[in-house]
Amino acid sequence: MSSHDDLTFETLDIHATEGPMAAKVAAYGDAWHRGFHEGSLSEKQREFWLEHSRADGVTLRAAYAASSLVADPPPVGTFTSWGGSINVGGGTQLPLHMITDVTVAPTHRRRGILSRLMTDDLADARTRGVPLAALTVSEGGIYGRFGFGVATRQRMVEVDTGHGRFRLRDTADDGSLQLLELPQARPHVERVFARHLATTRGAVSRPAFYGQIEEGRDWESGDKDTRSRVVVHLDADGEVDGYARFQHKDEGEGPQRGVVELRGLHALTDVAWRRLWSFLADIDLAQVVKSRVPVDTPLHLAVTDPRVVRSTALFDFLWVRVLDVIAALEARPWREDATVVLAVQDRMGFADGRFRITTEKGRATVVATQDEPGVTLDAETLGALYLGDQPVTVHAAAGRVDGPDVDTFAAMADHAGPTPWCSTGF
Ligand SMILES: CC(C)(COP(=O)(O)OP(=O)(O)OC[C@H]1O[C@@H](n2cnc3c(N)ncnc32)[C@H](O)[C@@H]1OP(=O)(O)O)[C@@H](O)C(=O)NCCC(=O)NCCS
Repeated sequence: MSSHDDLTFETLDIHATEGPMAAKVAAYGDAWHRGFHEGSLSEKQREFWLEHSRADGVTLRAAYAASSLVADPPPVGTFTSWGGSINVGGGTQLPLHMITDVTVAPTHRRRGILSRLMTDDLADARTRGVPLAALTVSEGGIYGRFGFGVATRQRMVEVDTGHGRFRLRDTADDGSLQLLELPQARPHVERVFARHLATTRGAVSRPAFYGQIEEGRDWESGDKDTRSRVVVHLDADGEVDGYARFQHKDEGEGPQRGVVELRGLHALTDVAWRRLWSFLADIDLAQVVKSRVPVDTPLHLAVTDPRVVRSTALFDFLWVRVLDVIAALEARPWREDATVVLAVQDRMGFADGRFRITTEKGRATVVATQDEPGVTLDAETLGALYLGDQPVTVHAAAGRVDGPDVDTFAAMADHAGPTPWCSTGF
């Protein structure tokens, strides 16, 4: 425990099951839930939260007001983190420090509580040698100052499936489909996702609550999820090579509008992906499929009428923070062979410095240097560029990358393949 003005900071033990520590953990759960205006946790929600948080071995960082009218006050600041992994391209997965449930009570905002919790947490991760940190955000203006940049984005689409409007150009498939209940599908879903994680740049390991969801629990209420279904695709040999988890809903006033809400789709082959979409489009009593998809989804190219696929939003998803520049840059793949000196400005210090990057046959050697930089950027932009979501020159046009060697750096750093895709929410 350490003190800071009229506040104390403490790390709680998520595994405590009795005594004052268990009560503190329970109050922490209520505090972050209230922080997002969701009220305190119901018994079922608390059970759900404790189960997955314990499975992930999370660290709970709490801030307390030193004085309170009540005996066991809830924390005024919460900050949860744990270890996962991320695919950084070229089939390489790196350890990832994952952060969530960041809240500060309205009575204590803008007094540096988040800054303090973030500084302690990232310093701890860096000391343990974790090269990257990541989070998803409620508001876009908070985390750039802490060196997090938008590293992957998601597109929201509404696909018009009414009156046979959704027609695929290529329907060839010698595989088959099976509709399963969630627990039946779980082993197949987990195997397909593991393969997806191993092969997709930007994919992030799933926190334990995904296991609870796949087992048939509703993540919002903690109750049994009786509505979700899973369809799996089997290849010609009967191996599951894709799945979609979805719910049917009625939306809108007046004439009913049946909506298929796609909660997750991963396919290991293009054939499986197309067949799953055609299944979703064919569901009766529904005119629309709503889904989050990769930014460069081929869906509008796969159908005969591209206008049946309407983009309704494009938004930031995974925000990445580089904690160890050398480890992070040496792990990711590179395109052209060249050398640049990169200067990173980081007011938190973790990524600050000058680095000579030499690339050869797709790999980089990175060493600290005092040489004049050819490219200058800040830690937020380094995080944004890391997975290759948007080209270096686009960041340069935005005034975020500077220096005489920007074009060389772009030729080295930009990926030729699809944009990174992270479907893991946390
Ligand atoms: C976001 C939140 C955690 C910030 O906590 P806080 O303790 O007030 O933050 P700090 O006092 O440490 O502020 C650090 C810096 O971030 C800025 N900042 C904080 N919240 C901000 C916001 N919502 N938008 C823009 N800037 C913000 C502060 O102005 C400060 O800037 P400075 O470094 O230039 O002085 C708090 O407002 C909150 O709980 N909001 C509701 C829940 C939420 O949105 N959580 C984020 C989940 S991803």
